[in-house]
Amino acid sequence: MLDLQNIVQIYQQGQAEVIVFDDLNLNVKQGETIGIIGPSGSGKSTLLNIIGLLEKPHSGKISISGTNCSDMNNEEKVNFRKNNIGFIFQNNQLLEDFLVEENVALPMILAGHSYKKSIKRAREFLEMLGIVERRNFKPGLLSGGEQQRVAIARALIKDPTILLADEPTGSLDLLNTSLVFNLMIKLAKEKNTITILATHNLNLINKINKSYKIFDGNLIEYKKK
Ligand SMILES: Nc1ncnc2c1ncn2[C@@H]1O[C@H](COP(=O)(O)OP(=O)(O)OP(=O)(O)O)[C@@H](O)[C@H]1O
Ligand SMILES: [Mg+2]
Repeated sequence: MLDLQNIVQIYQQGQAEVIVFDDLNLNVKQGETIGIIGPSGSGKSTLLNIIGLLEKPHSGKISISGTNCSDMNNEEKVNFRKNNIGFIFQNNQLLEDFLVEENVALPMILAGHSYKKSIKRAREFLEMLGIVERRNFKPGLLSGGEQQRVAIARALIKDPTILLADEPTGSLDLLNTSLVFNLMIKLAKEKNTITILATHNLNLINKINKSYKIFDGNLIEYKKK
């Protein structure tokens, strides 16, 4: 279970204080997929960064699978992330010094699996996402949508407790968008993953059971149209 309690996040922008979250609460059960919408600048990436322990909120409590993550030190956070959190970043963040298949395999290698086994699994994910023929390229040579699918494979490979997907299909065509979405939903069901999907794509949001909109520094339930 993911539990956020009384999250406040405030940024100083020049003289102005921007209150992104004002007493935000969220509870998500294992196996649930949650959509997050809200205009550009409303705080979607900030929310995922806070859940992913990449950003410390001004105040509030974060607990994941019964572990209180709020007071962890940096090393504890790194370890917790490595074992539990898959993150698809809005800007992909692939490593240019490594091949595509190595980028995907890295989380498994870091979790202690052999190089060979990790590369084999990486190729399976690349195959599922239709980019296995790009496996020996450097990421920079790939199209935006191809890079995005590499980032998706990298987040999925370690069967995370929580998958945080920040506009994961923003660079994809319709066909690949549904391919990726269906794969995420399938894996969430099979592995009982919590999936948090931030997106502007209302077609996807309408396929998810429960979604929230960031409004006025808080989350309100979004009613499907
Ligand atoms: N480190 C920071 N310092 C100051 N302000 C920040 C910082 N990070 C985010 N912000 C501000 O917080 C607000 C929320 O940003 P965020 O990136 O979460 O929005 P978003 O909903 O993901 O937008 P988009 O749809 O464009 O991706 C923005 O006004 C942004 O400028
Ligand atoms: Mg964002």
